Amino acid sequence: MSAFTEDMLKSMANVERTRASRMGATIERFSAEEKEELLKEFHPDYSEKGFKVLEVGPNKGEKVPVELAALLEGKSIVADAKIDLEKIDYDVDVLIIGAGGAGAAAAIEAKKAGANVMIVTKLRMGDANTMMAEGGIQAADKANDSPAQHYLDAFGGGHYKNIPELLEQLVVNGPLAIDWLSKLGVMFDKEADGTMVTTHGGGTSRKRMHACADYSGAEIMRVVRDEVVNLGVPVLEFSPAVELLKDETGRIAGAILLDYDSQEFQVVKAKTVIMATGGAGRLHYQGFPTSNHYGATADGLIMAYRAGAPLIYADAIQYHPTGVAYPAQIYGALVTEKVRSIGAQLVNSDGEIFMHPLETRDVAAASIIRECKARGKGVKALDGVALWLDTPLIEMLHGEGTIAKRIPGMLRMYLKFGIDIRKEPILIFPTLHYQNGGILIDSKAESKLPGLFVAGEAVGGIHGTNRLMGNSLLDIIVFGRIAGTEAAKAAKEISVGKLNMDHVAAFEAELKAAGIAEGESSPKLLPVYTHGREAR
Ligand code: FUM
Repeated sequence: MSAFTEDMLKSMANVERTRASRMGATIERFSAEEKEELLKEFHPDYSEKGFKVLEVGPNKGEKVPVELAALLEGKSIVADAKIDLEKIDYDVDVLIIGAGGAGAAAAIEAKKAGANVMIVTKLRMGDANTMMAEGGIQAADKANDSPAQHYLDAFGGGHYKNIPELLEQLVVNGPLAIDWLSKLGVMFDKEADGTMVTTHGGGTSRKRMHACADYSGAEIMRVVRDEVVNLGVPVLEFSPAVELLKDETGRIAGAILLDYDSQEFQVVKAKTVIMATGGAGRLHYQGFPTSNHYGATADGLIMAYRAGAPLIYADAIQYHPTGVAYPAQIYGALVTEKVRSIGAQLVNSDGEIFMHPLETRDVAAASIIRECKARGKGVKALDGVALWLDTPLIEMLHGEGTIAKRIPGMLRMYLKFGIDIRKEPILIFPTLHYQNGGILIDSKAESKLPGLFVAGEAVGGIHGTNRLMGNSLLDIIVFGRIAGTEAAKAAKEISVGKLNMDHVAAFEAELKAAGIAEGESSPKLLPVYTHGREAR
C-alpha cells in the first residue's frame, strides 16, 4: 500500500509523466526584477502582521518578528529572584554559553590560548543546530575558485547587506577552516585520489560545498566535541544561562545560570563571555514548522539585548525552501538543498517546472509559496499545500546507487515511513530554518558590549539578509575560532570587579516607562507544545 493519499498519487502521475522531458532541460533563472517582486509579494519577511516595532532597548523603532518581540520585551526570569552575587559558584577566564559547533570551536581555541574555559549549555553537549546540519560547508579551496568569488556570491545572496569585514573574515578563513576540521578528523567526502568532492548550493558560482554525505553537521560536531573532551574543557549541561552579569566598569563579567535539577540560580564570574546560543526556529515565527533543534529559542539574543547589545537584521528570517510537508511524523524537517544540487527538480501539481532548483533560498521559498497559494498549483498535504521535489531524477542523471551514497540520511528518513525517494518524489514546503540577523559584532567577534563575544547563529551581519547554504557551518567554525582566540586574549588583560545585574532592573524600568504590560517570562528556554495540556 502506498504511503501517499489518492489525490497525491493522481498528482504524482503528472510528475512521472513529465519526468523524461524535464531531464536535462535548461531552466531560466529569475531576473533581478522578478526576484524583487516575488520577495515582496510572497516572502514571509514582508508580511506586516508577522512583525512588531520594538519600543525599548538598543533597536527601539525597528521591527522584529512578533514572537521575538514578546521575549525581547518580556520579563526577566530573574526579575523577582533574590540572587547573592557575592556567592560565586564558578570563576573562569572565558565562559562559553552554548555547546554547538560555534561554542565547541571557541572552547578549543580559548583553551589552546591558555585560558581557563567553561562551557555551559541548556541541554547536552552537541544538542544544537550544528548536529542537524546536512548539506555541507562552503569554502573556496579549488583551483577554479577564490575567496573573492565566494565573497561575491555571498554578497549577492545577502542582498549586498553583509558587513564587509565580517564577510571577508568568513571567506578568507574558509579554506583554513576545512584544513583545521580535516586535521581534527572530519571525514569529508573525497574522490579516490583524495580530492574533495564539492557541489553547488543555491546562489554559488563555483562548486565549493564540502560535505560528509548529508550528515555534515553531525560529523563536524562529533569531531569538535571529541576535541573539547580531549582538552579537558568542563561542560556544565542542563544549566542554561538566563541573564548576563556586568561589573562596575560596565564590562560583561559573567552570567546567571539556572540549574535544571535543583531549579536554583548559580553565579558564574568570567573575564570574558562568548555567546554561542544559536538560532530561533523553535519560536515558530508566523506559525511555520521548523527544521531547528529543540533548544533554538533565541535566548542569547534576549540576554544580550537586555544588557544593551544592538541586534542587526533581526527581521530577516530564512525559510528553507524544502521542509518536509508530508508525512506528519517528520513535518518541517529539513530536506537538504543538496538533493537539488545533485539533480532533483521542484515540480508543481501538474508536473511542471516553475523555477531553477538552485535559486537563493529566500527567492526559492517565495516562489514555492506563490506556486501553491497564488497559482493554485499545490498538492493538498496534511493541513496545507505542498509541491513535489522530484528525487528519482537524481538516479536517472547520475546512476543507480547515487542516492544511497550521497544522501543516505534522506533515504533512511523517508524509508521509515514507507516512501522510497529513489522511486517516488516527495512533498515539500518552506520550513523555518535560520535567523539571518542577530547580535552585531566586529571582525574580532566582539559585540558592542565590552567583554561579550558572539559566534554562530546568534551573530548578525555576516550573511546580510539572506544566507547561502553552507555558509553557516563555515561561520560557526570561523567565528567560533576567532571568538575563542580573542576572548582568551582579552581575558589576560582583565580583572573583574564587583558583579551586578543593574541592567536587568534598568530594562524593567524602561519597559514600565514605555507602558509595556508585564509580558512573557524570558528568555524562553524551551518551546512548549502541550497547548495548555499537562504533560503526563
Ligand atoms: O540544505 C541544507 O543542507 C542546509 C544547509 C544550510 O543551511 O547551510
